[in-house]
This record gives sequence, structure tokens and C-alpha cells, in this order.
Amino acid sequence: MRSSTELRYLIDGHRRGENLAAPFYLHEEIFAHEVSAVLGPQWLMVGHASLIPKPGDYFTVDALGAAVVIVRGGNDDINAFHNVCRHRGARLCEDASGHAALFRCRYHGWSYKLSGELAAWRHMPEGLDPAAYGLRRCGVTLFEGLILVSLLPEAAPDAAKLLAPVREYWERYDLSACKVAAERTYDITANWKLCIENNLECYHCLPNHPEYTAVNAFVRADERVPPAAVDEFAAYQRTWAADMGSHGVRTGRSELVEVAGQLCRAGTWPLAPGKCTASRDGSPLAPLLGRVGRYDESVTTGCIGFLSYVMATSDYALTVTYLPVDARRTRAVMRWLVRREAVAGRDYDVDALCYVWDETTKQDKQLIEINAAGVGAMGFVPGPYSLLETLAADFVERYLALMQASL
Ligand code: FES
Ligand SMILES: [Fe+2]
Repeated sequence: MRSSTELRYLIDGHRRGENLAAPFYLHEEIFAHEVSAVLGPQWLMVGHASLIPKPGDYFTVDALGAAVVIVRGGNDDINAFHNVCRHRGARLCEDASGHAALFRCRYHGWSYKLSGELAAWRHMPEGLDPAAYGLRRCGVTLFEGLILVSLLPEAAPDAAKLLAPVREYWERYDLSACKVAAERTYDITANWKLCIENNLECYHCLPNHPEYTAVNAFVRADERVPPAAVDEFAAYQRTWAADMGSHGVRTGRSELVEVAGQLCRAGTWPLAPGKCTASRDGSPLAPLLGRVGRYDESVTTGCIGFLSYVMATSDYALTVTYLPVDARRTRAVMRWLVRREAVAGRDYDVDALCYVWDETTKQDKQLIEINAAGVGAMGFVPGPYSLLETLAADFVERYLALMQASL
């Protein structure tokens, strides 16, 4: 373990307005400290309730050094357990998803009920209490059908307090009545913080994300390319906001909620004139979500903590979860949500649905990986954030404050 003195030295050496020193992006000791002090307690979006519709349906998630199984129990409740047998620790569920009446460890045959209680063991000494050998629980909370898990529930933020202020931004999409139309994973050879910094800035968008830029007018306005884009976007945004307001839709950004070190925020913005949704040419992709009512050229985005992001346009939603594997590897899991009754091939085309964000994420993966290659090389020294990277700069300051507070 890197000593707290060394970590303190690195934190003290940080210059406000610059990115982090190399060890923060590379060292396993720092990653281990992040897991226990910062990320472990936080609510992590691991999936959607529609992935496990029936009692006994389960899926597994590996992240932050933990293995977790999420299962729908007999009372329709959703539980999350460490996917680790209480005998000698074998991985219990080996498949990424499935259905089980009972979880049985194939090593020596101990089995567990869907509630996590030990169901059966053999040849154990007198005096051991089976009740003490149930599966270890993670915290679980549901937000608009999204399943959030905390690995360290006793230190988890109060979920109601964290999520209540953003609920009004999401209600009209009725995400709990959605289904997962597509799921794709992107294994990124980079520290999770490089993924988050990338996610939080669009300084890189204009030259690297043609598909995203085509449907998001703010990119050219921010870049002043062409200079007239600034006034054009401002005028468009005013008309759009007035129109949204007349339909009773809240626009703009929510307050930034912070509970026990975890952040939550949401906001609703315009796409680009005439773009109904984030698709190749801006034309609709799927039936309207929830109570949206019309293709209104809007996008709602939000974060739950550092690792979980949600985006919704009129006809689909996208969840993005960054699962840190270790100090140098991150798995991004993306799920595209559409109305539950929508039928693939009739109401939406999966490839068309995924197009903009799949292209954009493949581009981001490359950018994040060249960033990782550079910060891991000898010549790297931290550099200054631009005026278009204020959220990334803010993330780094908040991250360091949490790390410092944990020492
Ligand atoms: S490790 Fe699971 S039964 Fe032995
Ligand atoms: Fe990007």
C-alpha cells in the first residue's frame, strides 16, 4: 500500500486547473484506495430492472475488484450479493446472466436461496450456524427502473436524498417502462478517471465526433465555428426553451446534489434545429418514450456519481456505466432503452438505434487510450484544462478533495 504520506504529497503537489499527476492514472495502490474510500460506497448503475423480469432471473457484474450477482427474488424484490461462495470463496454464478431457482456452488455443492440464505451444505462440523453463512449483501436501490448497487452499503449515500432532486427531469421518459433494446461493452485500456474526464468535456468533439456534432448544435457554438454559430445557437435555444416551457417541460440544469461525497445532476438541452433525436440524420428511431408526446429536439443528460450516466432523447435512452477493472483498465457498458412494447425490426432498427453513440464511443475509446499511453510515458507532466473543460477540471478537484478527506 502506497503510504498516506506519499498520497498526501501527490495531492498537495496538484496544481488547480491542471490534470492529475501520472501515479493517479497508473498505480494500483491508489486504485485500491479509491475503491475503499471513494468509489466503493457510491451507488453504481449496473443495469435495468427489465433485464431480470422473473423471480430467479439474474445477471452478474465485475467491477472495482468485486464480483456481484443481481437477482430478482421470490417476492419480486431485487437483491445484490457478492458472487462469492461462503465456503472457500469460489465464484458462485459463472454465467453473465441466467435463471436459477437456487444458487449452487459447483465446487463443493453449497447452495443458496434467492434471498441469499444458505440452503444446504454437507458434512460440516457441529455447532456451525447456517444462518451465519448467507451470501454477503450489497446495497440495492432502484431509480426509474435503473438498478443501483453499492458495494459498501453501510457507507452509501442516502439514495432518496441523492436522487429526489433530479427525478423531475426523468419522469416524463418513464424509464421504468422501458426495455433494453441493445447492450454493448467497450473495454478501454485506461484508468477510469481518463474516461470520466473525456466524458465531461466536449473540447475534443468537433474534430473527433462528426456524428455527435451533427445532432448537437452546442458543439459548434462552444467552438465558435463558424463565429455566427454562437448567436444562431443562442436564438435557437431561446425559441426551443420557450416552446418546451409552454409544454410544461423543465429545461436547463438541476442543482448539483452532493450526498456523502456522491454527486447527482441532470439537465435538459436542445439538440440541433430539426434534429428529432440523436440519430444519423436526426430523424426518429423509435416510438416516443413515456409521456414525451412529440419529437421535441431535446436531450436530457445526468450523472449519478462519478461512474454512471444517463441520456434520453424523445425516443430512446442510453445508460453508460464505467466499470473500473484495475488502475489501467475500464469497461464501459452501454445500454439502449426503448419503450417496452416496441418491437425490433418493426418499431426500431437496432443498428440505427445504436449508430451515433456506438460510433462516438469507439472514437472516445481511441482518444482515451492515446491519453492513457501519453500519461504513462516518461515525458508526461500535467497540463492545463481549457475553458471548454470546466466540468472535467471540477471533477478532478472533487476527486482530490474526497481522496484527501479519506486520509
Ligand atoms: S467453495 Fe463453494 S462449496 Fe466450496
Ligand atoms: Fe467524446
